[in-house]
Amino acid sequence: MTSPSNTSVTPYGTLPPSSTPSTRKPISLPRLREMQAHGEKITMLTAYDATFAAVADAAGVECILVGDSLGMVCQGLTSTVGVTLETMRHHTECVANGLRRSQATAWLIGDLPFGSYHESKEQALRSAVVLMQAGAHMVKLEGGGWTAETVRFLVERGIPVCAHLGLTPQTVHALGGYRVQGKGEEAAATLKRHAHELQDAGAAMMVLEMVPAALSAELTKELTHCATIGIGAGSGTAGQVLVLHDMLGMNLGKMPKFVRNFMEGADNKTASVRGAMEAYVRAVKDGSFPVNAQHAW
Ligand code: KIV
Repeated sequence: MTSPSNTSVTPYGTLPPSSTPSTRKPISLPRLREMQAHGEKITMLTAYDATFAAVADAAGVECILVGDSLGMVCQGLTSTVGVTLETMRHHTECVANGLRRSQATAWLIGDLPFGSYHESKEQALRSAVVLMQAGAHMVKLEGGGWTAETVRFLVERGIPVCAHLGLTPQTVHALGGYRVQGKGEEAAATLKRHAHELQDAGAAMMVLEMVPAALSAELTKELTHCATIGIGAGSGTAGQVLVLHDMLGMNLGKMPKFVRNFMEGADNKTASVRGAMEAYVRAVKDGSFPVNAQHAW
């Protein structure tokens, strides 16, 4: 007969015991709205597993996005198009477990993958339920005005939604590559119209990816009920997001212009993932990242 063991203590995990008391208040939608209203920058990073999520939470990152960028950084795919709902469910659950084991303060956003919300709003609801039941607090979906009806349908059913405009990686083949969107008067007007339609439909957050800095700053002022989160969209947005592996300098290809490697410049003796995340939070909060002349268009 084997003797009973304490299964919560393992030599492998670096996570704290699940009973660790929280010292910070969990991030909620009202708190995010308050930050937006007071001009306090919102910080977001992607994470795909329990440990990185727990470290990001401990470093003070307010929002964690289980992005379908995991197709590239975890699965080695060449785009996000091949990521499935089951894969997103699995990683969302891993991240939610990690957050529960740490301070559990971060707001958790699950990315709806390509094909999981395109058929109908009912299909989108079924997919969103999968991610919410895996532990997400909010779901993100890509696309312009055509998604507004879906956003409204989800929000009316109590599912907070983050929209995503500009460069939408799931449609990279239709866009003809990873390039800046909303350049020129007509494209800017279309992007603005879509942004307002999505806010009116109830989107509480909106990722703006590779959008000219001036346009995203203007939009940020106009969208008083929807917090803009920029990636390659300049410093004028309500918050910033980066892909975890990029900001840790683990992008083995060409580093996108909008990324800063937060491991760089740190004293080698003290460089740490948590330190890099804390530096990111500080830089976003004090406005020293991003720098428009360097990281934006
Ligand atoms: O999938 C992802 O990581 C994203 C971010 C780039 C915003 O959508």
